[in-house]
Amino acid sequence: MTRHTTGDKGPGGDGDTAAAGPDAGSAPAVPGGPGTQAAATDTGAASRTDAVTCTGLAYAFGDTTAVDGLELSVRDGEVFGLLGPNGAGKTTAIRCITTLLPVPAGTVGVFGHDAARERMAVRRLLGYVPQQLSADSGLTGRENVELFARVFDVSRRERAARVGQALAAVDLVDAADRLAKTYSGGMVRRLELAQALVSAPRLLLLDEPTIGLDPIARTSVWEHINAVRAATGMTVLVTTHYMDEADQYCDRVALMHRGRVRALGTPDELRTGLAERRGAGSGERPTLEDVFRDIAGSGLDDKSGDFSDVRSTRRTASRVG
Ligand SMILES: Nc1ncnc2c1ncn2[C@@H]1O[C@H](COP(=O)(O)OP(=O)(O)O)[C@@H](O)[C@H]1O
Ligand SMILES: [Mg+2]
Repeated sequence: MTRHTTGDKGPGGDGDTAAAGPDAGSAPAVPGGPGTQAAATDTGAASRTDAVTCTGLAYAFGDTTAVDGLELSVRDGEVFGLLGPNGAGKTTAIRCITTLLPVPAGTVGVFGHDAARERMAVRRLLGYVPQQLSADSGLTGRENVELFARVFDVSRRERAARVGQALAAVDLVDAADRLAKTYSGGMVRRLELAQALVSAPRLLLLDEPTIGLDPIARTSVWEHINAVRAATGMTVLVTTHYMDEADQYCDRVALMHRGRVRALGTPDELRTGLAERRGAGSGERPTLEDVFRDIAGSGLDDKSGDFSDVRSTRRTASRVG
């Protein structure tokens, strides 16, 4: 039933217990939205401790190169969108950051902890909502969240309160004692969010959190993510195909194609950049999707698929019911 338990539980492991130590003093998060960060340079040298730093990250499944020298830094407190068509390597990169996949080449750091050498320390800092279904339809909402509290080592004394808080944060208190199979798609996604939040992560990784949801449920998922972010200063790294969502909710985005980041900046910077490349009088202000098409060129139409194709890839909540 628990499809993505990581195996290691309990203390011990390879990390030390100082997960909350050196990073506590970083500058307060600025959840004010885009605009505060000036011209982002791609490799953005990590002067203070970034939430995530990937340098030269590469990962291959046999002959298939999924991630091909990924350079990425996600700042503490921001909502960062990793965008790209199906097969771009987003899920593989996210799974390397979570430590669920090893780091065969390059480095991955999470708040200064090395994902290859300090796996437990990294895991303690993050919450993860995978692309595939991670809630168990045969358990109640509360039981699902309790399960994650146990897996993530939330102390027994705190557990009930933390589970209650996580359910409240996603507005599932009233439905908490119903079986998850009775939930709508949006409720299931919010339940998965509660599962990831129960360990009070400093970094929340969301892989296609809204795929397959109707517009109202999508908005609701984002509003809950934003509310928790505002309350806790947590960093959010999200993958999505929905360019409009990225534009609306992400402080910065990286456009990923064939295993690499092809452009990085605030949505505004990227759109302005394209408008400038096109020159004056070129008509309407470009969208993020225009930016991506410009960067990826015709490559978007080959085996990687188109954005619209992938909207149906997540066989999400309908499977629960
Ligand atoms: N378990 C796997 N075995 C073999 N190939 C895989 C596996 N997972 C992903 N891939 C391949 O790696 C590439 C990147 O996939 P993925 O990281 O899932 O991309 P995205 O999340 O951007 O759609 C694709 O070509 C995909 O087919
Ligand atoms: Mg994916």
